[in-house]
Amino acid sequence: MKTLKFYFKDCNKNGYCLGAYNFINMETLKAICEGCQKSQSPAIVSVSEGALEYMGENFVKPLFDSAKKTYKLPIFLHLDHGKSFEVCKKAIDLGFDSVMIDGSALPFDENVKLTKKVVNYAHKKGVPVEAELGVLAGIEDTVRADKNIYTDPQKAKEFVEKTCCDTLAVAIGTSHGAYKYHGEQKLRFDILKKIEKEIPNTPLVLHGASSVPQQYVQQINAYGGDLQGAVGIPEKLLHTACTKHHIYKINCDTDIRLANMATLRKDLRENPKNFDIRKPNLLAMEEISNMIADKNKRVFHNSKRI
Ligand code: G3H
Ligand code: 13P
Ligand code: ZN
Repeated sequence: MKTLKFYFKDCNKNGYCLGAYNFINMETLKAICEGCQKSQSPAIVSVSEGALEYMGENFVKPLFDSAKKTYKLPIFLHLDHGKSFEVCKKAIDLGFDSVMIDGSALPFDENVKLTKKVVNYAHKKGVPVEAELGVLAGIEDTVRADKNIYTDPQKAKEFVEKTCCDTLAVAIGTSHGAYKYHGEQKLRFDILKKIEKEIPNTPLVLHGASSVPQQYVQQINAYGGDLQGAVGIPEKLLHTACTKHHIYKINCDTDIRLANMATLRKDLRENPKNFDIRKPNLLAMEEISNMIADKNKRVFHNSKRI
């Protein structure tokens, strides 16, 4: 089976990126796999600290193993936004393929220290580590930030040299959640270019990169929800980031939540007599899988790469 390292090299060679899709239960994991099967794409499937707690740590790895066995796809189990050494160690010991230590809210030196500690443990077990430098506006699980603090290219070089992290999440204008812009929808490709120049061999990661498809926002609003003004990263910008830059992993959680909720809200409203959750869940899984296959093909450029 090809490794994550192989895929990051292949991304570099062939101008594509891996989708890193968050799952929170069996339905979302199966839907992600179905989508990747449709597009014949490799993928990272991510579990946040909150999702680890929600599913229960004993459920996550067996669920992932079952998905891998069923779909026979190159999928990789990743801890998203680990905030402490302890949670990264737990994920590594549970058998995750990679972990993220997110010290981005800490002062630089403390971020370095924490990341190094995780890298030392992870590398002994052969597990790659993603770190983060710069702060994304919005909500990162337990961390809230009002302002985007872009990654400093010089600091990125120093950070990677000091920590030996394998991949680096950078802040260039994306943000978590469904409300990403008030004004112009842009990304700071000028900063990204400088980062790439400083650390040309480090695969870069974009968090907060959902495109917030407006048909889901409208459907949610039409069927009892209230997501007025929700807006995401234009697909064109994401396509540029992964085909012309060193962005080899793009995270997506919000779009899955939106596809799920839009489908559930509509079906529940239209079928008031139904009390079998499997029916709306199956529709939602189909919608999520189609969205993912489409994103893999058109935006991440990674179909038929398995
Ligand atoms: O980046 C954060 C992810 O969207 C995870 O969100 O902590 O609510 O599972 P969560
Ligand atoms: P979105 O909220 O844009 O989907 O970002 C998810 C993410 O970065 C998970 O780590
Ligand atoms: Zn994130």
